[in-house]
Amino acid sequence: MRWTRVTFFALGLTATASQAGQAADKVLERGTYLLNGIVACGNCHTPKGPDGKAVAGQELAGGTVIDLPVFRAVTPNITPDKETGIRAWTDEQIITAIREGKRPDGSIIGPPMPIALYRSMSDSDARAIVAALRASKPIANKVEKSVYRIPLPPAYGPPLGHVADVPRQNPVAYGKYLGDIGHCMECHTPDDKGRPILSKLGGGGRPLPAFPDGFTVSANLTPGNPDGIAHWSGAQFRSVMKTGVRPDGRALVRLMAFDWYKTVSDADLDALLAWLRTLKPVKN
Ligand code: HEC
Ligand code: HEC
Repeated sequence: MRWTRVTFFALGLTATASQAGQAADKVLERGTYLLNGIVACGNCHTPKGPDGKAVAGQELAGGTVIDLPVFRAVTPNITPDKETGIRAWTDEQIITAIREGKRPDGSIIGPPMPIALYRSMSDSDARAIVAALRASKPIANKVEKSVYRIPLPPAYGPPLGHVADVPRQNPVAYGKYLGDIGHCMECHTPDDKGRPILSKLGGGGRPLPAFPDGFTVSANLTPGNPDGIAHWSGAQFRSVMKTGVRPDGRALVRLMAFDWYKTVSDADLDALLAWLRTLKPVKN
């Protein structure tokens, strides 16, 4: 009798542990999908070679320099390295850094880390991304500090409470969500001295530093662009996003993160396109 009970109890424990394991696997799987895909933290945080491609084996090790008149930003090492990465930060501290731009010591994370857009990131996706960051390879790489010649804001908004998931049943709403955590509009909106001109959201024409040196200009993603998404089919849009080659055969500059978007699901790309088609047409 006693023996049976013990066995039963032990079996119950095993079941609970494996369920917890499966849930953790799901969280890591989601985080890896986001990190290596639409969210593409590595487009900034992974060093790039002279060809503009991410250096293999250096994922998320930092050191990319973004040099503009108003700042010289250097991306930090966000691998779980003990000395030079973010291993010592708690999950909550990493989430606060991503969504609120605040480090554990209270200092503010400067641009171009797209904090304003990351404020939309749901609690569950933020936790998933943290799980994927923790699972990434620790790399020792000490990087220099950024220099800002403009004042940084005291905060990017009031402290965030709970951020709910956006339901996928509504492709336009979910597409906008993916666009936020993929920070498309950070690059694709024209700016006035670094501030986005919101009346021209997605209108492109923003000058951006390109590899190995020089500048490029972002494309107009609104239906107002006669050579852009307005006339592309879903399949053409998916192909541009995954290959970086436009339907007319022109290859896009590598700053556009198509190396990461290869793994984004068709459903997610379709949602992105559904959202882009609802943007106010901008002539540019
Ligand atoms: C557009 C470029 C860009 C993208 C995309 C980006 N970051 Fe950053 N990130 C930066 C820069 C630049 C800094 C340093 C800013 C400074 O020095 O104040 C930074 C700082 C950080 C820090 C603070 C680290 C430290 O040691 O101070 C963390 C954590 C971080 N980013 C995580 C992420 C994660 C996770 C993602 C993806 C969800 C991401 N970043 C996407 C550019 C970017
Ligand atoms: C780091 C900056 C950056 C980010 C982030 C970015 N893009 Fe781009 N994108 C560019 C640049 C620059 C171009 C133009 C490249 C060229 O013409 O060679 C471009 C081109 C494009 C094009 C081709 C459009 C055309 O008419 O030729 C599409 C589509 C596109 N981006 C969609 C997106 C979407 C959707 C997202 C978000 C998931 C996104 N981009 C995020 C920089 C960016």
